[in-house]
Amino acid sequence: MPAPPKPPGTVLIPAARIRRRIRELARDITKHYQGRPLTVVGLMNGSLFFLVDLLRHLPPDTQIECWRVYSYKGRRSTGSIRGLDHHAGDYRGRHVLIIDDILDTGLTVYHVSRKIRQNGARSVKLCVLLDKKRKRRAPAKAHWVGFPIADRFVIGYGLDLDHAYRTLPDVRALD
Ligand code: IMP
Ligand code: MG
Repeated sequence: MPAPPKPPGTVLIPAARIRRRIRELARDITKHYQGRPLTVVGLMNGSLFFLVDLLRHLPPDTQIECWRVYSYKGRRSTGSIRGLDHHAGDYRGRHVLIIDDILDTGLTVYHVSRKIRQNGARSVKLCVLLDKKRKRRAPAKAHWVGFPIADRFVIGYGLDLDHAYRTLPDVRALD
C-alpha cells in the first residue's frame, strides 16, 4: 500500500498534549457549572473533534447543540458571518458554553453569543482550543483556552484550509 501523503506544515501541538489539556479544561468547566443547567453550543465544523473529546468528560445532564457558521475563505476571514439565521433554540434558564476551535478576529463568537443571549440564556461563556494573539475585530473573550498561539495559520484536529486537513490528529502550523 502506498504511504499516505505527508501533511503540510509542522506540528505545533501534538495530539497527546491536546488530550491532556482537554481533561484539565473539562475538570474546570465541570466545577464551574456544578448544579447549573448547562447547554454546550459547538460551532461546526471547526470544533467537531474538540467538542466531542471535551464532551466525553462533561456531566451526563449536559445538553448539546451544534451551530453551523462560517466566515473563512482560504487563509483569510471574510469579515462576515454566514449561517446564523438557521439557528434559534430556546435557551431560557440555561447557562450556555460556546465551544469553538479558535478565537481569531472574534467576529464569529461575538455574533453567536449575542444571538444566544437574545434567546434567553442566563449566561454565555466561551471555551476555545486555540486563542490566536492578534488584534480582535469584535469584542470577544474566551473564559477557557486550551492553548494561546501566535498569529499563524493552523490546520488539523478540526481546523481546515478550504475544507481539507480537518482529520489530521495534531494541530499543525503552515508557514
Ligand atoms: P473569527 O470569527 O475570526 O474569530 O474566526 C473564527 C473562525 O475562523 C474559527 O472558527 C475558524 O473556523 C476560522 N479560523 C481562524 N483562524 C484559523 C486558522 O488559523 N486555521 C483554520 N481556521 C481558522
Ligand atoms: Mg470555525
